[in-house]
Amino acid sequence: MPASTGKPRTIRSFVRRTGRMTSGQAGALERLWPEFGIDIAAEPLDFTGLFGRSAPVVLEIGFGNGDTLVEQARQNQELDFLGVEVHVPGVGHCLMQAEKEGISNLRLIAHDAIDVLQTQIADGSLARVNLYFPDPWPKKRHHKRRIMQPEFLRRIAHKLRQNGDFFIATDWAGYAEHIDEIIALDACFEPIERRKHAGEAPLDRVTTKFERRGLGKGHAIWDWHLRRV
Ligand SMILES: C[S@@+](CC[C@H](N)C(=O)[O-])C[C@H]1O[C@@H](n2cnc3c(N)ncnc32)[C@H](O)[C@@H]1O
Repeated sequence: MPASTGKPRTIRSFVRRTGRMTSGQAGALERLWPEFGIDIAAEPLDFTGLFGRSAPVVLEIGFGNGDTLVEQARQNQELDFLGVEVHVPGVGHCLMQAEKEGISNLRLIAHDAIDVLQTQIADGSLARVNLYFPDPWPKKRHHKRRIMQPEFLRRIAHKLRQNGDFFIATDWAGYAEHIDEIIALDACFEPIERRKHAGEAPLDRVTTKFERRGLGKGHAIWDWHLRRV
């Protein structure tokens, strides 16, 4: 048995994937990080300084390869987008797409969103949060790793402005049940919509890579729209 360090054990919602970075992703990281990247820090971000204007800010947690995030930023030029993802090749891919689309209303953080929420996001500063297809951690012994937990929902509520929106989607039936249970425990949000469907419109988002993968396996899709009260 390893000797105890005395520190509480941190349960993370991810394991670092060892996926290799392509030369294009590595090059994009090196070239574009100064323009789009934000390093982890202990103080809340100044969004006006960061984006060079004052506009509603949308936070996307776990954006994967970032295709959906870039497309939303392209389609909604009046909003500013902040993406947080721990998978560095995904961050590199997202930067390549951002450059290709020539967008300027996007910034990225390559770090655990739990820490980012705790230290870098000021209370009441977000207009919207997107959590699309979080890792489902299907085994019972791993359920504690699911990012959606009562404390996480409470933290999102604090970071959203009054009437701010929280959008969640999953293709995993067991995670959908878990999400419903956590929402039911919380008084900070008003449920605006909950929809189980087969990937069809109308959707207030762009179809994601993991969603396409789930649909390909015959999974249903669950979407929630909650509003901060
Ligand atoms: C199943 S994938 C979904 C990706 C994308 N949203 C999609 O729908 O295609 C979940 C993503 O969340 C990221 N992730 C998990 N926990 C995270 C955390 N605490 N902070 C940041 N990213 C996280 C993973 O690295 C992974 O890329």
